[in-house]
Amino acid sequence: MTADPTETAPEITGASITLHGVQKHFRGQTEPAVAALDLQIEAGEVVAFVGPSGCGKTTTLKMINRLIEPTSGRILIDGRDVTGEDPDRLRQSIGYVIQSGGLFPHWTVDRNVGAVPRLLGWDRRRIAERTEYLLDLVGLDPAEFGGRLPKDMSGGQQQRVGVARALAADPPILLMDEPFGAVDPLTRVRLQDSLIAIHQELRKTIVIVTHDFEEATKLGDKVLILSEGGHVEQYASPAEILASPANDFVAEFIGSGATLAQLSLTRVEDVDFEPVTTARVGEPSGSVIARARAAGSDWVVVIDDDDAPLAWPSLAEIASTGEVAGFTDPRLPVVAPSSTLNDALDQMLAASQGGALVAVPGGRLLGWVRIGTIMEVIRGQLEAANPDEPGYVEFAEAEADPGGER
Ligand SMILES: Nc1ncnc2c1ncn2[C@@H]1O[C@H](COP(=O)(O)OP(=O)(O)OP(=O)(O)O)[C@@H](O)[C@H]1O
Ligand SMILES: [Mg+2]
Repeated sequence: MTADPTETAPEITGASITLHGVQKHFRGQTEPAVAALDLQIEAGEVVAFVGPSGCGKTTTLKMINRLIEPTSGRILIDGRDVTGEDPDRLRQSIGYVIQSGGLFPHWTVDRNVGAVPRLLGWDRRRIAERTEYLLDLVGLDPAEFGGRLPKDMSGGQQQRVGVARALAADPPILLMDEPFGAVDPLTRVRLQDSLIAIHQELRKTIVIVTHDFEEATKLGDKVLILSEGGHVEQYASPAEILASPANDFVAEFIGSGATLAQLSLTRVEDVDFEPVTTARVGEPSGSVIARARAAGSDWVVVIDDDDAPLAWPSLAEIASTGEVAGFTDPRLPVVAPSSTLNDALDQMLAASQGGALVAVPGGRLLGWVRIGTIMEVIRGQLEAANPDEPGYVEFAEAEADPGGER
């Protein structure tokens, strides 16, 4: 994840992680699950682990927080050898998120998020403030969700609570094991974008295991590709891996996903998005229409008090009522600046729209991006990646007209 260089980068609060010859040999197994792993993860970096099933990703992650004891080798956090440290204490400084969210089913959201701070003996008020801050950070309204039980929430919402809980004691490190594996593709994109936004704000060190190479290239500053026995095949930035796979294993592993992953290197923030005319709920329709016409637009975006988009009505729809209605469109295509062009295209096609709104995750509207703009960039990239396969380009052109410009 790269930060916007025009903004002052927030302070790095993450810690570095160093693995020296770390090995795990489970009792009764002939071969070690992880043979001898050397790895350096810098403070504040996001590293994605990928590799075939059984190659040792989870084992490696769990050795970092000592849910699994290494058979041999040393693990250092910020240069401090933690192999001999009390595992319970260590785990309080390392957030851990698993696929199912791992929430306590009979505890409310507030109680789940406050679990570690309570263990640490924080007073009630501090826990309540922290819980509210974190739910807000992960995009859940604390008043609405704080008292709910996990079973009364969607998989994506539970996953957000899992992230909030892992961040509760402000740990410098966040370990995530396939955190977005069990949610639908569009929710997954939103969770990824939220994670990028959270990382840009908090600058923790994040290690994320994923099955999806495209997800790894979207989220990781670096990607670690492992083969059986926790053997490092390549450890580099996504762009580097795509441009020069270290060996046949890597080339084959990224194989058919390479073109898609290449596209995921370009983000919405890298293409031109355009300003929109906005309106507030309750504004007189006449003045909104006049403003939109003056800007040469035949639609507006209705925004709330936080400038977050609510609906995307045409001027005809606006004209049908005296003032702007407070309607929230649940299917509004909204992408984040960090969304990849693939994500944006998916959103537009799912909503059958000729464009998508661009907004900070859960927040402020920044503009809109046309499907044509995205298709042009994608077409250029596909042509560059597959000069001998015009079929790809024809497919892209066919998709470029979803039934009219907005
Ligand atoms: N508790 C255990 N006892 C014995 N063997 C184990 C244990 N846990 C894992 N293994 C073995 O260690 C190897 C690595 O497992 P690990 O769970 O780390 O793989 P993974 O890369 O996370 O796979 P997946 O992508 O399927 O989650 C596998 O061969 C697995 O069978
Ligand atoms: Mg695993």
